[in-house]
Amino acid sequence: MSLTPIGELRQKITTATLREKKFQREPITCLTAYDYATARLVDEAGIDIALVGDSLAMTMLGYENTLSVTVDEMLHHVKAVRRGVKNALLIADMPYGSYQADPNEAVHNAARFVKEGGAEAVKMEGGEKRVDVIRRVIDAEIPVAGHIGLTPQSVNMMGGYKVQGKTLNAIEQLMRDAVALDRAGVACIYLEGIPREVAAMITAEVETPTIGIGAGPDCDGQVLVFHDLVNLTFGHPAKFVRRYGDAAALITQSVLAFKADVVSHQFPNDAESYHLPKETQAALETVLHRKQAMQR
Ligand code: KIV
Repeated sequence: MSLTPIGELRQKITTATLREKKFQREPITCLTAYDYATARLVDEAGIDIALVGDSLAMTMLGYENTLSVTVDEMLHHVKAVRRGVKNALLIADMPYGSYQADPNEAVHNAARFVKEGGAEAVKMEGGEKRVDVIRRVIDAEIPVAGHIGLTPQSVNMMGGYKVQGKTLNAIEQLMRDAVALDRAGVACIYLEGIPREVAAMITAEVETPTIGIGAGPDCDGQVLVFHDLVNLTFGHPAKFVRRYGDAAALITQSVLAFKADVVSHQFPNDAESYHLPKETQAALETVLHRKQAMQR
């Protein structure tokens, strides 16, 4: 056990811890982490889950949406996060196309995240229609996180990033999705972009811990994208985002100050420079004097 920067005891978080937290009504915290630095910061602050979300397609790689990121690109980031995370549960997102077509391929790709990336669970989008493949992956001893509601990998089917579960039919479908994932034995269910009332009903209905993003305060836990949290996303934030810091302003300020110091010859100064040992300096001066004398 170790301490967070504010003195809390840190314990290793497992999928069992998440269930225990739901049982004890203790909120679960989750942030995305995409590299060694963000992983260390998230883990050392005592966040329960470090999620290597496929949102890294946009936040880290500058893609338009999550659809084009590959298993190999995701793995590169999962490995870096693994090196930075000690106590948080490490969940890796299965990217679009890596689990929809063939259950054997899904198990193979999920196992790569565990064996090569060091992930402790994988996340897959979709409810009822994804349950068979989710069961196959769980049967292969890999914990799975479900993800329903506004599922970004379905952006083309949804016709954009729209809040889901707004009609009675849609609510019924979401409840069926949640119950199907619950029965399949997923480790947690991410609820994204759904009305607060629906998220509350699902959370009360299932034994599995729910983790909300744009799903109101009644979920068992909350997740935010790290870059949204600290303002590194370069756009208008969604309604559900709360910005806790302004890394963009801090970084811009630092970059501008560096540039100004370099162009005005104020960086680096003498104290920031390496110096020759005294004997070498003396020998060098002798050599230089001799050279000058010979040139005269
Ligand atoms: O990719 C991601 O970051 C996610 C979370 C927003 C749940 O799926």
